[in-house]
Amino acid sequence: MHQAPVITIDGPSACGKGTISQMLAKELGWHFLDSGAIYRAMAWGVLEHKIDLDDIDALMDFLTRLNIELKASRLGDSPQVWCDNKDITVAIRLEECGKMASRLGAIPQVRAHILQRQRDQREKPGLVADGRDMGTVVFPDAQLKFYFTAATRERAKRRFTQLQEKGINGSLRDIEQEMRERDDRDEHREVAPAKPAPDSIMIDTTAMDIPAVFSQVLEIVKEYF
Ligand code: DC
Repeated sequence: MHQAPVITIDGPSACGKGTISQMLAKELGWHFLDSGAIYRAMAWGVLEHKIDLDDIDALMDFLTRLNIELKASRLGDSPQVWCDNKDITVAIRLEECGKMASRLGAIPQVRAHILQRQRDQREKPGLVADGRDMGTVVFPDAQLKFYFTAATRERAKRRFTQLQEKGINGSLRDIEQEMRERDDRDEHREVAPAKPAPDSIMIDTTAMDIPAVFSQVLEIVKEYF
């Protein structure tokens, strides 16, 4: 039996991959995997239960028992994230969870623990997968791979605006600094570092708005499928 097709969109934080992946999944009527949400949900659990990352056995024991659910009501919807019977959809977006997610993402056992879970999302009619290592490790045989980049300053501004819209205040300088640290860790870790697969299509979104990125991606996708 043929496997369902996959399109991967990888890149650093606030490069636009989340928004575009979701728009694309909706447009195609495909499933949507927000792999960062799984890392963020694990991070939420670790922070909530004050788990020590240095005790790897205890950490893995904890993560094995942690019940994370991603619930999308319709195909292509961004999932609601539940853990310990709590809706943590909003909580996981805080930078505290992003930072911890990045620390967890640098631990090989943690990545191995969720590898199959991510691959299991590959279902018909197809999957759009968003993350850091979707095209390199999780779905190396994906039909189409994109890698988004954007200047750090621009990405920090986007994150700053997103936070303001949510009523969360922050300084642009702090956001940019935290972003640099997180990108640095994600790009330089030993396992599955965030990097473009050799066969990925690179898109620099620095000077592009969302409709412009989406139409470029859609054109490529329609040409392929
Ligand atoms: O995409 P995001 O900002 O929601 O991801 C949060 C962190 O999770 C990111 O800084 C690193 C980690 N992550 C990862 O290591 N691999 C992925 N495929 C997705 C996220």
